[in-house]
Amino acid sequence: MASPRRRRPHSPVPELQLGRARVAVSILDADLGNLAYAIRRAEKEGADRIHLDVMDGHFVPNLTFGARTVKALRKRTRLPLDAHLMISEPSRYIDQFLDAGCDSVTIHVEIEEPIEPTLRAIRAAGRAAGLSLRPGTPLSALEPYRLLLDVIMVMTVEPGFGGQAFMADVARAKVLAARELLRHKLHGGEVHVDGGVNRETAEFVGALAADVLVAGSAVWIKGRNMGREIRLIRALADEGYQFGLNDGQRPIPRDKVVTFATLPRHHARTLQGAIEKVGIPVLIFRAGGLDIELPDEIRDWDVLLPASSESAALERFGARRDEMLRDAVAWRAAGTPPVAYVAAPIPPRPDEVVS
Ligand code: DX5
Ligand code: ZN
Repeated sequence: MASPRRRRPHSPVPELQLGRARVAVSILDADLGNLAYAIRRAEKEGADRIHLDVMDGHFVPNLTFGARTVKALRKRTRLPLDAHLMISEPSRYIDQFLDAGCDSVTIHVEIEEPIEPTLRAIRAAGRAAGLSLRPGTPLSALEPYRLLLDVIMVMTVEPGFGGQAFMADVARAKVLAARELLRHKLHGGEVHVDGGVNRETAEFVGALAADVLVAGSAVWIKGRNMGREIRLIRALADEGYQFGLNDGQRPIPRDKVVTFATLPRHHARTLQGAIEKVGIPVLIFRAGGLDIELPDEIRDWDVLLPASSESAALERFGARRDEMLRDAVAWRAAGTPPVAYVAAPIPPRPDEVVS
């Protein structure tokens, strides 16, 4: 007799996040006497990353913690750590913050010391470099540093304290425009919105295509369920993104994978290597179709990339692709003469990615 069917155990793989907005929990309003617990709790409740507000009592009228605290917290969570340095002299401490294990470091554009060396140091360490700006600072202040930026952090309150009211006009003026400043990042640049984000404001922020919503006081309200608050903020941001049209258009295409070209393997690999060099991730897969029985070196391969990077890829590689397509036709017409083996390219390291 056949044994009764066993029910499959639940998958141990956590549910995939399918939306686009991410929530960074700021611990500024947590119990600073028990930061390790606060961070673990934020992780358990579903935060996507941790936002660490470092203040020096000089750039802003408040003091928090420094690199040693960040280093200690690094051991308590696997989430990415975003350091937001509201300090006048980040260059003095930058090595310490990098050594502490921050995944991104954002400094302020209003400081009175040179900004570029610090941004370069962050990138040289393979971390994401960011610039933040006070509500009164125009976005154009970031222009000189544009090509060195992975992150733009738009402040929608005056820096220094949690729990202040969200400045909608500032968000409207800067958040979507910040995306344009990151256009050199063909993939992976992030706009963060910091200050006053909660369930009332998240939808609006999402409609402006913010990638990361920083939430502080909203998730630490006593008696409220933190996990639910995080999920609400994320879902509302995605809702805003999907339905809040800007001048009748989506801010950027929803991400999905598109086929950029279908080519023989030797061409597909060469194209993949070239596109990945500029920072756009590319996958190549065996294409379906009539030739599925053919050997790998003769059949067609699909070159896939994210829809959000498609127009950038077309602009830079469209002509090359078309040339390869023509070459492939000639190669097939000639009876597919052998081509030298082309190894799969190794993706560039973050600091090798050219803009
Ligand atoms: C303010 C900080 C913010 C703050 C946000 O200077 O940069 O990160 O913690 O807190 P809420 O969400 O309460 O505005
Ligand atoms: Zn902050």
